[in-house]
Amino acid sequence: MNKVRWGLVSTANINRRVIPAIRASQRGELAAVASRSLETARAYAAQWEIPLSFGSYQEMLDSGRVDAVYISLPNHLHAEWTIKALRAGVHVLCEKPFAPSLEAVDAMIAASRETGRVLAEAFMYRHHPQTKIVGEWVRAGRLGRIELVSGVFNFKIMNRQSNVRLVKEYAGGSLWDVGVYPLSFAQYVYGAAPQWVLGSQRLGESGVDESFAGLMGYQGGGVAQIASSLRSPFYTQATVVGEEGRLELNRPFTGQNEGQRRMLFTPAQGEPQEVPVPEAELYSGEIEDMHAAILDGAAPYLSLEETRQHVRTALALYESAASQQVVYLR
Ligand SMILES: NC(=O)c1ccc[n+]([C@@H]2O[C@H](COP(=O)([O-])OP(=O)(O)OC[C@H]3O[C@@H](n4cnc5c(N)ncnc54)[C@H](OP(=O)(O)O)[C@@H]3O)[C@@H](O)[C@H]2O)c1
Repeated sequence: MNKVRWGLVSTANINRRVIPAIRASQRGELAAVASRSLETARAYAAQWEIPLSFGSYQEMLDSGRVDAVYISLPNHLHAEWTIKALRAGVHVLCEKPFAPSLEAVDAMIAASRETGRVLAEAFMYRHHPQTKIVGEWVRAGRLGRIELVSGVFNFKIMNRQSNVRLVKEYAGGSLWDVGVYPLSFAQYVYGAAPQWVLGSQRLGESGVDESFAGLMGYQGGGVAQIASSLRSPFYTQATVVGEEGRLELNRPFTGQNEGQRRMLFTPAQGEPQEVPVPEAELYSGEIEDMHAAILDGAAPYLSLEETRQHVRTALALYESAASQQVVYLR
């Protein structure tokens, strides 16, 4: 195999960002799309010029026509279809969050190990050069000891009638949907999951957290504060504060408004300075990473243990918000 044949599990909205990244690659091709309805799959295939369409996800998995799938289902279906795909011998790039329980995440990881098929979380921003620069600076000690990481991801859901993010049974909610970005960013900067968390949520009519705020404490005393919302205007931001300086990112997570990313370094002494950020197609990193894992046998850049800790921390934050107590992660 010298090209990975990709299949899309669903006709989700987010596919439109991932399709160009597959098409831009020398090492992959978009072979198929599957939907719960054959009619929808056919119309989608025609619109996006995809060779094959299937009226069920399982049919595509069993077809022998795809080597890897991108799973962009609502959150509560990620585990089920990841495991089915792996068992069908297909590699999986699965959207964040992996699953709303650790049992489900562990079953996904076990299925990947048992089948020897690649499994990775589709956290596209982690592959962007901007995020990698932050990690390099922190690991090289350029900011000194890290005192605080803060991050926000807000946007406003306009069509509230039919959004999977507002359905409690689908693992909707702002923390699962967008709060996991600053949560995972803090874990990336500190290089570990927090030791304790404190969460606070505002629930909407459907019972999901439409806004969430979290405080997280790390070994050595550093802290992170994160916030997410499904009901305020689009806003993303991240700051890493160290004893020797501070990095501020205006667009740490998303691909909207390419070319507008800015990163500012303020040293303990001296003037603030702009840090150049190379532009890169945001979704290409995760696709090329899958290609390297499938075709070259490389380890995926985002380890499954990191992904497991993302879910573990989010669960602890939800538990804390419900109990109004600090939750310690053991
Ligand atoms: N990385 C990113 O930048 C990013 C951005 C947005 C979303 N996401 C993630 O991607 C996933 C999908 O989000 P989205 O906003 O693209 O979702 P969406 O547009 O609502 O699409 C979800 C798709 O899942 C399928 N589906 C199967 N069972 C369903 C059910 N019971 N209810 C609704 N849809 C069902 C449908 O496809 P068929 O009808 O074709 O079967 C539907 O089109 C989520 O996990 C989300 O967290 C990631």
